[in-house]
Amino acid sequence: MPAEFEQYARPGEITPEITASKLLDTPIQVPSRLLMGPGPANAHPRVLAAQTLPLLGHMHPPFFTIMNEIQDGLKYLFQTSSKYVLLISGTGHAGMEAAIANMLEPGETIVVGNNGIWGARVTDLAARYGGNVVSLDTEAGGTLSLKDIQAALEQHKPTVLFLCQGESSTGAHQSLAGVAEACQVHGTVLVVDTVCSLGAVPFYGDAWGVDCMYSGSQKVISAPPGAAPFMLSERGLKKLLNRKTKVASYNFDLNLIGDYWGWFDKRSYHATGMISMWYGMREALAIISAEDRLVSVNTIKVPEGVNWAAVVKNAMDKYNVEIAGGLGPTAGKVWRVGIMGYNAKLENVELVIAAFKDGLKQQEFLQ
Ligand SMILES: Cc1ncc(COP(=O)(O)O)c(C=O)c1O
Repeated sequence: MPAEFEQYARPGEITPEITASKLLDTPIQVPSRLLMGPGPANAHPRVLAAQTLPLLGHMHPPFFTIMNEIQDGLKYLFQTSSKYVLLISGTGHAGMEAAIANMLEPGETIVVGNNGIWGARVTDLAARYGGNVVSLDTEAGGTLSLKDIQAALEQHKPTVLFLCQGESSTGAHQSLAGVAEACQVHGTVLVVDTVCSLGAVPFYGDAWGVDCMYSGSQKVISAPPGAAPFMLSERGLKKLLNRKTKVASYNFDLNLIGDYWGWFDKRSYHATGMISMWYGMREALAIISAEDRLVSVNTIKVPEGVNWAAVVKNAMDKYNVEIAGGLGPTAGKVWRVGIMGYNAKLENVELVIAAFKDGLKQQEFLQ
């Protein structure tokens, strides 16, 4: 050890004054709660189970396979064929900051749809990144009309337009259809927050021409907080690659994060991937992919040995309830139950279930 350090290094003479906390003497205790607020929601048990799997190295090929699977799931969830999808390490705010840090350069104009807290948050962030922010306000609880948006684009010709699809502070659902067409007239990049809406209401990344979108893991996706699903379109990527200035944040620089996720056909270390968190996201995306069913017509598989037609007849004769059998390729294999419009009521669902139970009991399929 160099002499100038040695005079300070007397570990034997130092008695730690700060002792270990007594609070940590007992194992962690967490009450079980049903999380029915605006998020986080409870995570799916399969997601939590995946998070206990053994760690892999963040540059190990089996982990890259899992990252590829996540990207496939994201493309489905975002309804995009863009290869520029990934998870930002962090919560929805990390996605938000990545969007602004990469899509906006100092001095450029951003029009921010502002009808609740999230527009205000983006206004703050965009100003921190040197943007010239124009706030497009509506009353709290309202949404912007396409006309409002077109007029603001015409007036300000911004580089970026920000909209929040699901404004969780007010419950407003912002329509996105037609917005990209208006943006493209002015070369404006469309950035959308779907933290509270993705997976719950339709989102069509390609069809709606969204250039940059971020979401969160802990709401509809049913994973813990900590991974922000993220997407750039080809136009979004072009905006990134044509920047005149370096992205001001290392952590959120998509040139680097994208390079770890294979966007540029190789993989370089940016920061350690959130291994266990991404295992969980992989499973959450698998669950969402398997839930791709019509909600208006529910198809129920007929169990082996059950006479489907007798169940249908009993429902009509005894309960006055119509249930349909299969059609075409599903004939004889499924029942079809419609839950539509005026009929979509709890008491109707309960009646259909009662009719099913009774019909199945008669065939001794149920006790
Ligand atoms: C619409 C919306 N955007 C952004 C966020 C911020 O997400 P997070 O709290 O995960 O950082 C939230 C969180 O509630 C949200 O509802």
